Amino acid sequence: MSTFIGTRELPTWAGKATKNMEADTPPDSAPKTDSDNLDPLAEQVVVSYHERTKHHYHRYAAAIGYMDWATQPNPFRRYEGAPLVRLPLPDAGRVKSYWQLFVADNILPDRLSVDSISLFLRYAFSLTAWKQFEGTTWSLRVNPSSGNLHPTEGYVLLPSLDALHNRPGVYHYASKEHGLELRADFDPSVWSALTAAFPEGSFLVGLSSILWREAWKYGERAFRYCQHDVGHALGTMRFAAAALGWQFRLLDRVGSATVSQLLGLDREADYIGAEREHPELVALLSRERWASDRGLSLSNELVSQVATSRWYGSANALSPAHGVDWPVIDQVAVATTNLANTNQVATTNLRVTANQKIAADKESSAFPSEEELFGTPVRSGSFTAEKVILGRRSAVGMDGSTAISAATFFRMLARLVPTRDGRSMPWDALPWRPRIHLGLFVHRVNGLNPGLYMLARDPEKVETLQQAMQPGFLWQRPSSCPHGLPLYLLEEGDCRTLAVNVSCGQHIAGDGAFSLGMIAEYLDSLAVYGASFYRNLFWEAGLVGQVLYLEAEEAGIRATGIGCYFDDPVHEVFGISSRDWQSFYHFTVGGPIEDGRLTTLPAYNLGEVG
Ligand SMILES: Cc1cc2nc3c(=O)[nH]c(=O)nc-3n(C[C@H](O)[C@H](O)[C@H](O)COP(=O)(O)O)c2cc1C
Repeated sequence: MSTFIGTRELPTWAGKATKNMEADTPPDSAPKTDSDNLDPLAEQVVVSYHERTKHHYHRYAAAIGYMDWATQPNPFRRYEGAPLVRLPLPDAGRVKSYWQLFVADNILPDRLSVDSISLFLRYAFSLTAWKQFEGTTWSLRVNPSSGNLHPTEGYVLLPSLDALHNRPGVYHYASKEHGLELRADFDPSVWSALTAAFPEGSFLVGLSSILWREAWKYGERAFRYCQHDVGHALGTMRFAAAALGWQFRLLDRVGSATVSQLLGLDREADYIGAEREHPELVALLSRERWASDRGLSLSNELVSQVATSRWYGSANALSPAHGVDWPVIDQVAVATTNLANTNQVATTNLRVTANQKIAADKESSAFPSEEELFGTPVRSGSFTAEKVILGRRSAVGMDGSTAISAATFFRMLARLVPTRDGRSMPWDALPWRPRIHLGLFVHRVNGLNPGLYMLARDPEKVETLQQAMQPGFLWQRPSSCPHGLPLYLLEEGDCRTLAVNVSCGQHIAGDGAFSLGMIAEYLDSLAVYGASFYRNLFWEAGLVGQVLYLEAEEAGIRATGIGCYFDDPVHEVFGISSRDWQSFYHFTVGGPIEDGRLTTLPAYNLGEVG
């Protein structure tokens, strides 16, 4: 198992640009638009980054343009010297149905124990298979990742637990071992105070990104992919929590510096000669629902006490050397720092307001009820939650023939729209209302004419979208569509070739039942919430993608995330001329073609784990 990544890593969609192309797009040569009204420097850095990392028909975003196998990053971070506790591998064959995950209070919450944590991590981040082809072996995980490079690292902060440790601790999840590495332990009184505002038995999870892992292959565009992957991981965590009957909430008022401190990412001495991890987020898991405006932040003083407690281990180096560095990635990473919880926040009123506004914004009666959205609420299905979660895979090809029913299509889309009660999973995890809408290329949906469609994930945004897009579109509601689903036909026609062309020529975009571009309300989000929200937009897009992956499994078909698309040509398809709206991610859903040449091996050798 010496080579980490397999044949999937040589797709035609790999960035083909050379580093020289960097010179084609100096940030300040970008055309002037509304973004020039954005005041803080950070927003300008974001806009420049977004522009220069667009793929164009005639020029891809800057990357080295070949695979430097000698520096291929190890997908498994470990902390040498940190005690590893191997978790008991949960028994297979749990009987909870997939549809139950979406029904509030349907699953009795599990108690927090080493077994329930093990199941949570199994469903959130674990390996799902090893694949082999011609002497090359690579692993797949519950969470998908651009290029299977897996930049996302998972952490948990837990109280003392039998069979784990007799003190509260910060743990790094080691996916290859399905184990927890103890990074720090601290006094129980600190844990009690830190979680005092949360329901009894709550715990925290954290995510970081190793930006180098994606930059190794994708160059400057890599920051985007890392953020997509964080969004997918948010999804796997939310679904894992749902399977245990747990609530899950992103703590968006915990700033980046606090995330770093809590996860030990700012401990320079632990990363000598090793790739650093970029702080992404902290989220709370609990057995009970709690008032949304309470306890969304953490006390700086208590976090400092964790940070100054006893820490263990130092990070392994993932590549022997780094061929090319991409300074714009570091710049956008700094510019998108979440400044909540820091002193700097006092000087940026915009962001203070933004963080408060995020929560307040969410309440709206405009969203449909479950009945309005689905017609008949879904109370049966095909598979268990476990089969869908652990069975999720990307299609490497689509068959160009499988059609789905309109009912299946509507159900998949309905899963992407929050309901009025604010309790629909997984959207209850995000403290802001949808900022990502779907421009759909419908190819093979029985009972629905092929063509371009729009799903406004926030019904109040239909008019704004209409104004942003070309005036000639139909904006017609499909007749059989549930009346609460904000889906509109824009233009009838065969758009298979168009979908392939704008998705970097990838046939999966035309050979599925449908594909789509995720259209983000981009500049307004930066203006309202600040530059750090650039990351949140990708997270939301990743979460939309994760739902599509799982819905496709439940429907007996497959999906694939598409990070390689030609940005501005997509905008042209949907008649978007202003930079206010930008496509943030693509996806395809349809009947898969399996690659029969690959051998599949179990994720874990049962004798080794446990
Ligand atoms: C953000 C993101 C972008 C991706 N972009 C593409 C793409 O452009 N083309 C493609 O064929 N697969 C793409 N994939 C699929 C990955 O290659 C796939 O997730 C990875 O190989 C792991 O396989 P798995 O999803 O079956 O676990 C993307 C996945 C993610 C999460």
